[in-house]
Amino acid sequence: MSLPSPFPLRGARRLAERPSPRLCAGEGRLAAPRPINSLSCARNAQAGEGRGEGSCGFEPAASARRLRAFVVLVVLAFGWSGRPATAVEIALSCGAVGQEMRLCREAAEAWAERTGHGVRIVATPNDSDQRLALYQQLLAARSNAVDVMQIDVVWPGILARHLLDLFPYVGAEERAAHLPVVIENNTVDGRLLALPWFVDVGLLYYRRDLLEKHGEPVPATWQELTGTARRIQDAERRAGDARLWGYVFQARAYEGLTCNALEWIASQGGGRLIGDDGGVGLRRQEAVAALALARSWIGMIAPEGVLTYMEDEARGVFQSGQAVFMRNWPYVWALADAPGSAVAGKVGLAPLPASPGVEPTGVLGGQQLAVSAYSAHPEVAADLVLALTGPEVQKTRAIAAGFNPTRPALYQDPDVLRANPHYPMLADVLANASARPSRLTGIAYNRVSSAFWNAVHDVLSGRSEADDALEELEARVLQIRGEGWER
Ligand code: GLC
Repeated sequence: MSLPSPFPLRGARRLAERPSPRLCAGEGRLAAPRPINSLSCARNAQAGEGRGEGSCGFEPAASARRLRAFVVLVVLAFGWSGRPATAVEIALSCGAVGQEMRLCREAAEAWAERTGHGVRIVATPNDSDQRLALYQQLLAARSNAVDVMQIDVVWPGILARHLLDLFPYVGAEERAAHLPVVIENNTVDGRLLALPWFVDVGLLYYRRDLLEKHGEPVPATWQELTGTARRIQDAERRAGDARLWGYVFQARAYEGLTCNALEWIASQGGGRLIGDDGGVGLRRQEAVAALALARSWIGMIAPEGVLTYMEDEARGVFQSGQAVFMRNWPYVWALADAPGSAVAGKVGLAPLPASPGVEPTGVLGGQQLAVSAYSAHPEVAADLVLALTGPEVQKTRAIAAGFNPTRPALYQDPDVLRANPHYPMLADVLANASARPSRLTGIAYNRVSSAFWNAVHDVLSGRSEADDALEELEARVLQIRGEGWER
């Protein structure tokens, strides 16, 4: 399977035109001018990896004089203990959805072990808006409490002025190893503000066993999903499974609801949140119908509680066997199918439904790693980002937890494919993924998105009619935009 088709190369080409920094052989990383990075090159050379062009000057046939100089350098910098004389502690924020925290900690500790630096994990809220608010508070105060930050794919524009430009630390080869569309997304005004860590896209999870038992196909349209969910839910309840629901998703008033609602609307022909003229780009009639259908789910095939669900709440219900269908990100696969899960071996994955004639789509999500502009140790922090987003860590995360790599090469890796047999299907969904309008709306993205998710939440909870909510949304978006989207 190859991913590149969905990810146009125009960004990568533009980026590749920048002067290319020197690479450290074997790692595709920049040998940055500062001591920490030079030393990591030196260690590679010592291990016999530093050969060829761009190998930081340590050729296997180095003269004895150069070798002596190298040893002196290492001793000066590390002392005899093998730790860098200037060992520092890097504060790293990671998410804790699913297996995120454990994997983040393990990879960061491995980096600390290897480099001699320390790492401290900073816990942040799982609600992406709350996490953003926390970062904004810290960064506005120019705090150095967090050096490396896990940031959402929709935040580079919002946080741009507070993030370190990573171009000087990331070689051209390394940049080209990531999906160009994500590198482009993370590049604001020519500054590379974060390295891609994993890519998300909305998917439909279903109970294969229940669909088979009731002779139902995987639903292709939202109407089919509604009918199938209802029939299976009601039949199973009559047979004694009183707790079963038809469909769970994320409908708390937060960024996740923006993702869900954009999927319902786009896949039913309702267009994009922001149109080419910079105002609301939704096709009113289709969008209203999509929201009205979603409203009908509440209490019928989805519990009222879904109005407070984020990703892990929906996963909890599905994974304990209490839902026929679920919308979620790819990370759920590894957990739902694991031994100990009530639904292990019974789960299927498919693209989200779509109206006839409309390509199925899912919102493009994902997380990046950025360095705070206020970090006291930018070079070391950038080195940690390079390690965590590198091929080994991404491979481990894909196999152990289904976090989708941002490196196309890993989608050809047999071990990764064995653990994620759904990757070929995922490639098709990614090819038609819907991006949120964060690049266009720049620093205003979160205000636009919160206006949208609040409007949708009002509809779902019966506080307003879809038509009225969308009319108010249009006015609100124009008000936020003002004279134009500031980037
Ligand atoms: C996931 C996605 C992110 C999205 C968020 C919404 O973390 O990776 O892009 O904004 O969910 O809850």
